[in-house]
Amino acid sequence: ARLVVLISGSGTNLQAILDACKEGSLHAGVAAVISNRREAYGLERARQAGVPALAVPKRKEVDRRDYDRALADQVAEFEPDWIVLAGWLRLLSMEFLGRFPGRVVNIHPALPGTFPGLDAIERAYAAWQRGEIDHSGVMVHLVPDEGVDAGPVLGQERIDFQPGEPLESFEARVHELEHRLYVDTLRRLVTG
Ligand code: GRF
Repeated sequence: ARLVVLISGSGTNLQAILDACKEGSLHAGVAAVISNRREAYGLERARQAGVPALAVPKRKEVDRRDYDRALADQVAEFEPDWIVLAGWLRLLSMEFLGRFPGRVVNIHPALPGTFPGLDAIERAYAAWQRGEIDHSGVMVHLVPDEGVDAGPVLGQERIDFQPGEPLESFEARVHELEHRLYVDTLRRLVTG
């Protein structure tokens, strides 16, 4: 299967996917990596892996829909089977999503219906400290429309908080789970 991966930052989820493709544990190939930020380290990870790496920055004077249409055109060039959002931090409009119905997936470091949007890990940790929750988790879902971190769930796994655990330790466990869950979920998708 051909994947195009969209990133905005460090790209550790991308790295997990690149590694799995290379070692053959994921029968897919990353056709391109596209970032909305030139300085995203994930673009360097793509270059290191010999994968086309494109920066498509959103200039403020460009209308959001025009940007999404141009982005979709760039993505379509690579003829992807799946568009994989991995730390992609822009909301995608139907200008983009409508071009790839049923084929855009996203990972979010919280369980379905909880902590949508940015800083989900920190917000879950704070809720635990307030005694509001005793576990959190990670989910992979389809992105059918402009709902933030919402859509049919393809994979999810819970993480229990450990008493006295500092945020950094919890965050590291969340990212480890993300990397495993994304590869496992994509494996199920590409094998149909
Ligand atoms: C990850 O927690 C991802 O789920 C969130 O952004 C974080 C950074 O991911 N959307 P990455 O290291 O850039 O893959």
